[in-house]
Amino acid sequence: MDNIKPIIDPSRPKVYIETYGCQMNVNDSEVILSILQDAGYALTEDIEEADVILANTCSIRDNAEQRIWGRIDQFKIKKKKRPGVVIGIVGCMAERLKDELLKAVDIVAGPDAYRSLPKLLEAVTPDSPQIDVLLSHEETYADISPVRLDKNGISAFISIMRGCNNVCSYCIVPYTRGRERSRDAHTIVREARELWENGYKEVTLLGQNVDSYQWEDVNFAKLLEMVAAVNSELRVRFSTSHPKDISDEVIYTMARHENICRHIHLPVQSGSSVMLEKMRRKYDREWYLERVEKIRSVMPDCGITTDVIAGFSGETQQDHQDTLSLMEQVVFDSAFMFAYSERPGTLASKKYPDDIPYEVKTARLNEIIALQGRMSLKSNEKEIGKVMTVMVEGPSKKNPAELCGRAGSNKMCVFPSRGEKPGDIVQVRVASVTSATLICERVE
Ligand code: 5AD
Ligand code: SF4
Repeated sequence: MDNIKPIIDPSRPKVYIETYGCQMNVNDSEVILSILQDAGYALTEDIEEADVILANTCSIRDNAEQRIWGRIDQFKIKKKKRPGVVIGIVGCMAERLKDELLKAVDIVAGPDAYRSLPKLLEAVTPDSPQIDVLLSHEETYADISPVRLDKNGISAFISIMRGCNNVCSYCIVPYTRGRERSRDAHTIVREARELWENGYKEVTLLGQNVDSYQWEDVNFAKLLEMVAAVNSELRVRFSTSHPKDISDEVIYTMARHENICRHIHLPVQSGSSVMLEKMRRKYDREWYLERVEKIRSVMPDCGITTDVIAGFSGETQQDHQDTLSLMEQVVFDSAFMFAYSERPGTLASKKYPDDIPYEVKTARLNEIIALQGRMSLKSNEKEIGKVMTVMVEGPSKKNPAELCGRAGSNKMCVFPSRGEKPGDIVQVRVASVTSATLICERVE
């Protein structure tokens, strides 16, 4: 695996990349750097010495895009001082805004166009900015070994599919990432094996909707099985699951393999069946609760986390209360919580007015965040006294004499160091908790 470490070579032109948005984007940046490295570029982490400045962007909410516009202004100031610098915007925002962005920067490349980056960079001049935003039905970058940006060298992302065929009415992703396609299962297993051989201890399989993975006769449950079989000590994680698609087969496969971490990220979005219908999620409150029951009946210790949107079009106070009551019923371990942001071109933007006033959205979001804080604490309190198997990530941020790492459920643990290194597995007992962390003691 030639690309596993970035090349630092002073004689090559230097590329710098900033990544915004989801884990998939982090992995895409690693793919981009691998493609550029093969084309003769070196990687730099110092924007001031970069010949090429790239931002890999996100369009999921308006504030994500506003942040990038701000960054573009800052990049342009740098370009004034060093006119030779090339500025490129890649990823979801490039795909969504296309020529509008090309007026502001030198290169615009969408998520399926990363192989053309060397060509675009070669062709670009001050008078001729370059764009490639073609979406593909086939591109999975299956043959590319991503440069690994994770400093620890213990945990890596593997993209198993790209795009999304669900048309959740609020979501821009199907428009920016195109049709769903699954990657050749053998290349996924090979990548996991190479990572293991290079000292990695944990892989996270990534897709917008991993449960709909299908390559030849390999479905997601089978793929999990194949990756788990690479080595019984390789920890396997995955994200994101869709409540309508997560199958009993996947749940039982997780239960059968100790090295598949007991954590499912299962975005609910709303606790109101009326909202779920308008969101086109294709499940209702009862279905969601049944899936949670099923997961917990098979794996009582499985961490379940979620995403929640506050203030979607037409959301009544009762709908909002339904979300709160579902959160109270499920007691998620943690959640990402957002105010609804209308995205131009989506079904919701055409069909349902963004009619919840900003103050109401914000008040509901704050209520959701406050409730989740209490639920996270409650979920963590249940762990007190239990022994956790944790993979060391590094020193704890608050106290360098302590280490931190995640339990299988993805809960963050801190515990006294006995000189272990990142990637080591330790057993710790939960002594006390906060809403964010399990504070643990060592097990003799
Ligand atoms: N507004 C707010 N949140 C959104 N998400 C997706 N689209 C929007 C939007 N238009 C959230 C969903 C999704 C997560 C990745 O982002 O909760 O699960
Ligand atoms: Fe990831 Fe969605 Fe943002 Fe694209 S729009 S970067 S897929 S979160």
